[in-house]
Amino acid sequence: MNEKILALLRESSNHVSGEEISRRLGITRSAIWKHIQELRQQGYEILAVPHRGYELAASPDKLLAEEISFDLKTKIIGTHIESYDILASTMDTAMERALQGAPEGTIICAEGQHRGRGRLGRSWLSAKGKGIYCSLILRPHFSPAESPKLTLLSAVAVCRAIRTTTRLDCLIKWPNDLFIGNKKVGGILTEMNAELDRVKFVIIGFGINVNTPLSLLPPKATSLKDESQERISRVGLLREILREFEKEDLELRHGKFSSVLERWRKLSTTLGHRVTIASPKEHIEGEALDIDDDGGLLVRLDSGFVEKVIVGDVVKVR
Ligand code: BTN
Repeated sequence: MNEKILALLRESSNHVSGEEISRRLGITRSAIWKHIQELRQQGYEILAVPHRGYELAASPDKLLAEEISFDLKTKIIGTHIESYDILASTMDTAMERALQGAPEGTIICAEGQHRGRGRLGRSWLSAKGKGIYCSLILRPHFSPAESPKLTLLSAVAVCRAIRTTTRLDCLIKWPNDLFIGNKKVGGILTEMNAELDRVKFVIIGFGINVNTPLSLLPPKATSLKDESQERISRVGLLREILREFEKEDLELRHGKFSSVLERWRKLSTTLGHRVTIASPKEHIEGEALDIDDDGGLLVRLDSGFVEKVIVGDVVKVR
């Protein structure tokens, strides 16, 4: 009901009378008041003007389902939204929901996480109300070997959304770190549940330092606010990410993954550079030549041999 009241308030450029809300939604004046109070508690600024009615003065920049879904216009991605104040990790909650049968495109968002995790067993700092911490459930019809496609696709979607929302020159560092200059502003974590030849579901988790103060971030990390010198709307950025994700995902579904890869290449800060790669097994040094369909990085070693690297962290040398 809160969502319906919000929709009515948004529809009108000024006041909506209690009488009209009551008539259109079939609820009493006292029920309306109760819902208005709930919305105010969530951070909506709703004015009540005697004899005229209610007016929506401001919406909170919180990752609330009502806010994210407003004007989203996607068909799959983000059509089911669960938002929480604090979670251990949105990955765990998304995993539980996926096992319970949550539909494809469901997103789990949190204002903060107390056990946010990153790639390679690292933790992910998740300051409350400052960043985007969100996990998306997908149910692709392909084999586990193809799942890195989704990781590349996610990086393209998030990177493009950051660029359009902030005008910052965001780039992708292989495999899926989001960088501005030489500082990390976001990252993507992919986890999946699969049988030998079939993916049951994939969870894509993205963490972005949006308005996070630098003092809270690890060294060599930055936030969109710090880079742009402006406060960025987390809700606006998340909506854009979901829209971009749906566009890229449609390409994949229509057999046009090569165009997603092309965009990844254009946004890459890794290709064409000399890199050292620290993987759990070894250190490799050489020139980053390209990526292939399964997300592997092709590196020409000094011996001339081209090695394909599947996991690791890139350190760009020059
Ligand atoms: C990385 O760069 O190492 C990936 C970071 C991914 C962080 C996000 S925040 C939302 C989701 N929940 C988590 O616990 N991790 C991912």
